[in-house]
Amino acid sequence: MSKSFPIPDKVIYVCTGSKCKKKGGKELGKFFREMIKEAGLKGQVEVVKTDCTDRCDFAPVVCMQPDNAWMPQMNEAKALEAFQEHILRASPDHR
Ligand code: FES
Repeated sequence: MSKSFPIPDKVIYVCTGSKCKKKGGKELGKFFREMIKEAGLKGQVEVVKTDCTDRCDFAPVVCMQPDNAWMPQMNEAKALEAFQEHILRASPDHR
């Protein structure tokens, strides 16, 4: 009777608090979702929108897990680079 509790391999936390939202946080979330879809990683990688992470001076803020890679002042070019480095690259334990 228990429902499944899906746990993704990787998570991209995108701050969509008011400051980050104003600076494109919401669009970044969409951008990451599109990249996940294109890479065929739906279900394995998730985008989670967060409330303010207390780093508003660096908006928009993104964090990728499990690498614990926190990134300030994110834009599409940086997002693409970070996606390749932290999401597409195999995790050390899978090498
Ligand atoms: S709104 Fe994103 S860090 Fe505050």
